[in-house]
Amino acid sequence: MEAEKIERVAVLGAGTMGHGVAQVCAMAGVGVVMRDVAEPALEAGLAAIDKSLARFVKKQTLSQEDADAVRARVVTTTSLEDAVQDADLVVEAIPEIMALKLETFEALDRSAPDHALLATNTSSLSVTEIAAATSRPERVVGMHFFNPVPVMKLLEVVRGLRSSDEAIARATAFGERLGKQPIVVRDWPGFATSRLGIILGCEAIRMLEQGVATPADIDKAMELGYRHPMGPLRLTDLVGLDVRLSIMEHLFAELGEQFRPPALLRQMVRAGKLGRKSGEGFYRYP
Ligand code: 3HC
Repeated sequence: MEAEKIERVAVLGAGTMGHGVAQVCAMAGVGVVMRDVAEPALEAGLAAIDKSLARFVKKQTLSQEDADAVRARVVTTTSLEDAVQDADLVVEAIPEIMALKLETFEALDRSAPDHALLATNTSSLSVTEIAAATSRPERVVGMHFFNPVPVMKLLEVVRGLRSSDEAIARATAFGERLGKQPIVVRDWPGFATSRLGIILGCEAIRMLEQGVATPADIDKAMELGYRHPMGPLRLTDLVGLDVRLSIMEHLFAELGEQFRPPALLRQMVRAGKLGRKSGEGFYRYP
């Protein structure tokens, strides 16, 4: 089946990544069912989509009428079966916990149509292992989006050991339809993006522990010295300290010492300093 035949997408998870993926699919004219386990999460996801659409309207890159049409293309449910039963593509964007992913893909295998492309938005976990929870691993791929999804141009398509060429081609073509620039990478811990991004974040936190410079100056070093749009500590606040810690734990277990999570990061997560979403990380967000 060709990418243009993807007309119905189910997005599992209405969090930062899930609502972003739902929004870009709807902006590409595709019908979306966004699923989360509870109504408040769905309401928060829809509110975030409204906020992002309002930015496009304010900049006049989208008319209010088109924004309303985008919004009308997103429906929500708490039922996984209802969400996926007519889907041509399912994008899973639930928390980065392998046991949860496996359980979800087993359920997808029971409820999604045979032709559906099943994608995980995992940042670093094994796509091959997730695919093995289904009876159709050839139709399972990684589709790794970046935050904020409506703005970031990259789509990292991850080829699991048993992903078919057709599945990779469909994911890539659909990414282009969303206005993204896809790259295809082998399923290896951290892929091409998280492996490099995390090492920078890890090292910045170690530098903070060693008193090399203040958070603002460490960030400024990369923003002005290397032209990164945002320094590694500010970016960790955007992504979430808990999210980055769980990716680090996984890469430490899979790839070794260079990914050992800094003690300061663990302490901050234990204290509930999770970054922007909790109001405080390396910076405060009043
Ligand atoms: N929806 C719509 N538009 C948005 C938006 C959103 N959610 N967020 C930002 N924008 C738009 C703004 O309207 C603005 O548009 P304009 O330039 O046309 O006026 C533009 O993006 C820039 O936004 P701001 O002026 O508010 O702020 P910045 O110039 O600082 O840009 C940023 C914000 C785009 C977040 C930029 O700082 C950036 O690119 N940071 C790095 C982000 C990054 O590295 N993300 C990857 C994280 S890792 C990840 O997601 C992987 C996962 O597995 C963890």
